[in-house]
Order: sequence, then C-alpha cells, then structure tokens
Amino acid sequence: MTVILTNEERELIASYGQGSVPRYTSYPTAPNFQCGFNPHVKEKWLSNLNLSDPVSLYLHIPFCREICWYCGCNTKATQSDKPIEAYIKWLIQEIEQAGALLPGRLTASHIHWGGGTPNLLQVEEFSAILQAVRNHFDIDPETEHAIEIDPRYCSDDLIKALPSLGINRVSLGIQDFNLKVQQAINRVQSYELVKSCVEKLRAVGIYNINFDLILGLPFQTLESFEETLELSKSLNPSRLAVFGYAHLPQRLPHQRLIPTEKLPNSEERFLLNKLAKQRLLELGFVEIGLDHYALPDDTMSAQLDSHELTRNFQGYTTDKATSLLGFGVSSISQFKEGYCQNWSTTKDYYEAVAKGNLPVNRGLALDEDDLIRAEIIQQIMCQKKLDLATLPGGVEAALPAWLSSLDKLKQLESAGLLILGVEKLNVTDLGRIFLRVIANAFDAYSKDNLTRHASTL
Ligand SMILES: C[S@@+](CC[C@H](N)C(=O)[O-])C[C@H]1O[C@@H](n2cnc3c(N)ncnc32)[C@H](O)[C@@H]1O
Ligand code: SF4
Repeated sequence: MTVILTNEERELIASYGQGSVPRYTSYPTAPNFQCGFNPHVKEKWLSNLNLSDPVSLYLHIPFCREICWYCGCNTKATQSDKPIEAYIKWLIQEIEQAGALLPGRLTASHIHWGGGTPNLLQVEEFSAILQAVRNHFDIDPETEHAIEIDPRYCSDDLIKALPSLGINRVSLGIQDFNLKVQQAINRVQSYELVKSCVEKLRAVGIYNINFDLILGLPFQTLESFEETLELSKSLNPSRLAVFGYAHLPQRLPHQRLIPTEKLPNSEERFLLNKLAKQRLLELGFVEIGLDHYALPDDTMSAQLDSHELTRNFQGYTTDKATSLLGFGVSSISQFKEGYCQNWSTTKDYYEAVAKGNLPVNRGLALDEDDLIRAEIIQQIMCQKKLDLATLPGGVEAALPAWLSSLDKLKQLESAGLLILGVEKLNVTDLGRIFLRVIANAFDAYSKDNLTRHASTL
C-alpha cells in the first residue's frame, strides 16, 4: 500500500505535529494532580459512593521479567518471585482498607489487571487478590474482567485458569512483529509465540482478544509496519490499539537505550498513522477515537454508534461506571469529586499501607469548570465531535469554556482539522490524528506542562 503526504498535511505537521500534548485519559491530566494529597479526602470520597452505582476496579502489578526500552509504565524488573509475593500481601491489605470505608457492597462492572506484567502472578495469587475484592464487591458474569498479558511469560496453567478466575478479555502486548524493531526496543517475541498464545486463549473460550501495537518505534518503516498490521490481522484480534510511541528519555532513563536517530520523524509518524488507518479500515476494522480499532461486532464498535464509549486511565473503554477505584502502586482512582493517585514507589506504598493509611500521595478535587471541561474533552476524544447541547449541563454551563477556546478553534478550523457550527464542532478526517490538539484547546491547565507529555503525533 502506498501512502503519501499531501502539501496540506506537510503544513499541518509543521504547525501542529512538533509539540507535545497529553493523551487526555483524564481531565485535568495526571501531571496536574497535587502532591501531598490528604488520604482522608479519599476516605470521604469512598464513603460517599452510591450503593446503586457500579464501579470499575483497576489492579496494578508493577513487575516485569525485563524492561522493554520503550516502556512508559510504572514497573520494575525482577527475576525473583519474592518481591511479587511481598507486593501481593500489601495489595490485599489496601483492598481491605479501602473496602472497609465503602458504604456497603458495591458492584464491580469492570475489573482490569494492568502493569507491569500481571501474568507473572501464580493462579493462587490471582485467587487470593480476587477473594479480597469479593469481600467488598459483587462480581457477576456480566462484569468485563480484563487482563494485560505479555505473551512471552504466559504459562499454560494461567491460560487454563483464566475462565475460572472470571477473566473474559485479554490484551496482548505485541508492539511490532519486525525483528529489527524488536531488537532495538529489547522486546523480541516471534509471531509463532503470539499465535500459540492466541490459540491457547481461544481454546479455553477467551475470544475477546486485544492487541497493543506501537507506532513511532526505531527502524519502523511503512513496509515493516504494514507487515505488522497484516500479521496482526491474521490472528484476528477483536480490538487493536495503535499507540503513538511516547519518548520521554529525560524522565525514563531506560528509554535512552533507544537509538534516537533511528526513530521515525514527525512526517514519518504521520504516514505510519495514515497507513495504519487505511489498512485497518480495509481489513474490516472500525476506527475508534484517537488510536483504537475494533471489529464491527465488538462491543466497542456498538458503543461508538450509541455514543456510550468513554475514556479513562486504561484508554478507551466500554465501561459505564462513573467511579474507578485503582489499587496498587501508582494507581489512580476517579470519583465524581476528583482524582487521587497512590504512591508510585513500592517503599512509600508499603509504608503507608503498613500504617493503616490509604496509600495516597497525589490528587485533585474537581471544581465546576474542571467538570465541564472534562465532559467536553471526553466527547471530543470519544466521538470526534462536540455538541454543547448534549452535555449534562447543556449549553449554558459549557458556554464560558467554549467561548474562551473559540479563537483557538477558529485557527484549527482554518487548518482543516474541524468544522465549527453553532456551539458545536465536528472533527474532520484529517483532524483525527490531531485529536489531542483539538482537546487541548479546552485544557485550562495546558500552558505550563507541555514538555511532560507525548509528542503530538
Ligand atoms: C502495561 S503495558 C502491557 C502489558 C505487558 N506488560 C506487555 O508489555 O505485554 C500496556 C501497553 O502500553 C503500551 N506502551 C508502553 N510504553 C509505551 C510508550 N512509551 N509509548 C506508547 N505506548 C506504550 C504498550 O503497547 C503496552 O503493551
Ligand atoms: S511494555 Fe510491558 S513487559 Fe515491557 S517493560 Fe513495559 S510493562 Fe513490562
């Protein structure tokens, strides 16, 4: 497949493709949370939860066998299982501490195991953590129960146990199938290994399989990435995430091992994006938001049509819960009142849990303006349009945010990224790649922290 840059696209990349903008998995974004957040505030937010509202749970496992050099996740390499065993003890204690503050039993509509590499845990360890979860939350067969799996370390025993643990969706970290790219990122895994993992998952009845790919990695070319897309499709995942590589070597020292001069430049990243979109649409996927693709019969495609799709710290989700409780090191919780984030080192996290405190370190209480802008940004990131009349507070509440962004929106309209209407906007086909730039027009916090985010493209 040939993809080329038009003059219009080249100009857009020069104007909007050089900077860095947040991914808007929340608004305000995590760098704006304040340090020293009072754990008692989270205690109050937990006790204020409404018994009739389902919640989403996130369980973070911050360990991997080795570190992939591109990785931006909160994780540590360990060859021994000892640190993992110690961590699980504290994780269970945190769940019990938070559970005791709830107004009663709540229903978990969605559970997500993320990391790190959750599949390093033994089956009995999953069972023990889930028992702590069940002590406070009802999990029913409808609950979407997902796990991130690194196929290089997934044991047959764990795969066989997934259905009995209630896990019904798996995200496999693929990144890229090309060996030269894999070597440059310290993540060598063959197509055959991934194929075998997928076959074993299907054999135990897990058909909801997502693949994570990354574009913008060293040595990636249009040809090599097209092959990665074809190989991915041959294994028939129901969803594909095509993340743009976030290269932040100032903050993540292991990323300095990536040969910077071999990274695609912004025009090349744009073309990789364009290629992924064209080829995946041809292959029958539906485009979801900024960087996801799903088969037409996947729940994510259905929710896109019914405007129910949302975005949280795990990215796009079909989860309808309005509160998210994150457990484990660095996990973020989201309440209607605000966000809070746990300590990001195991040492600080263990110390806080051992003292009987919620291990919260950072957070932010939301004010009216934050809530309105969060709704606006959510609608843009999920539906690629905005209509103030459809927001919970209607036109009147959102008008000040709209008017304060209007000059920037007009510039983006002149650049061809969106079409403005009366108190509404529609993102153009060209605008999708710059969706975060459009959302950024509504970000009241954005001036100070742009260098802390991933590159725009
Ligand atoms: C927690 S990790 C995946 C789980 C598992 N540890 C694995 O690697 O297979 C979630 C996903 O984040 C993405 N990711 C990690 N670091 C990234 C970065 N710097 N830029 C973009 N995506 C990244 C990768 O696609 C990865 O599969
Ligand atoms: S990408 Fe996954 S396996 Fe690799 S270091 Fe990050 S969390 Fe660990």
